[in-house]
Amino acid sequence: MSSRPRIDPSDAARSPVSVPKLAEMKRAGEPIVMVTAYDFPSATVAEDAGVDVVLVGDTAAMVVLGYDATTPVGMDEMLTMAAAVRRGLRTPLLIGDMPFGSYERSNEHAIENAQRFVREAGCAAIKLERGGPSVERAQAIAGSGIPVMGHVGLTPQSASAVGGFKAQGRTAESAAQIARDAFALQAAGCFAIVFEAVPAAVADALMPRLTVPVIGIGAGLSTDGQVLVFHDLLGITAAPLAPRFAKRYAEIHERMVEGVRAYATEVRARRFPDAEHVYSADPAELEEFKRYLDQESLATAPWDW
Ligand code: KIV
Repeated sequence: MSSRPRIDPSDAARSPVSVPKLAEMKRAGEPIVMVTAYDFPSATVAEDAGVDVVLVGDTAAMVVLGYDATTPVGMDEMLTMAAAVRRGLRTPLLIGDMPFGSYERSNEHAIENAQRFVREAGCAAIKLERGGPSVERAQAIAGSGIPVMGHVGLTPQSASAVGGFKAQGRTAESAAQIARDAFALQAAGCFAIVFEAVPAAVADALMPRLTVPVIGIGAGLSTDGQVLVFHDLLGITAAPLAPRFAKRYAEIHERMVEGVRAYATEVRARRFPDAEHVYSADPAELEEFKRYLDQESLATAPWDW
């Protein structure tokens, strides 16, 4: 059984990141680092790497559950993952991503599900996608006391409506829609907004007009912070599946395949387990055990379970 990795004691003094802290970071021009995480080990990596914000994203549907869209993942799956992430985190702000179908129906339904992220998984905030009807939901959830992060540009839950996983804001009209959505979400009380797959120049033009922190993913350098999907940035996703904006900082998929191959080779050659990985027994105890096994009656007696 593996144990919880130790956090570097020099990091023990880091205080937990709060919503006001993110606003302070924006004011100070200090870049905000956000990643996704979906389970206990990825949370401990985010913690030990010192990131500021962790999102339990509905990208889990694709990178963890193997679907080709984010829409199939539901509240119960998201809550199981978010609770596991909570157990691995101490410092970063934890945000739960409202999955498709969990907030569209009514303000009441949206608040109920947002509260589940807080109550059942220990999230500090939630994220929801799109402007339009989501603005009223964002306002209702924020009004109920739960901090809300907005998300504009490419919003994968509505990818089929915009012709797939494509950059948004490449025409004046589409960029204006992103601006309207971002302003409306800010006015509705969102504490931060994600810009996904938006031309850098469009983000550059919007940044001076927004007072809340903007976290970019495929939106250039001018946003207040960046977010990447854990499996993309570490190369856990097999290479051709990651989106264009996902810079890979490691090739963990290849390393994992190498590791499992090496294990398979050793098992097939009967080289694993070796002396280092087996338990010993006291020779006298072993002798007594063997005498017990050799008893005639043992082989013939009916087993009494
Ligand atoms: O679900 C997710 O991982 C996201 C990020 C890409 C921002 O929404």
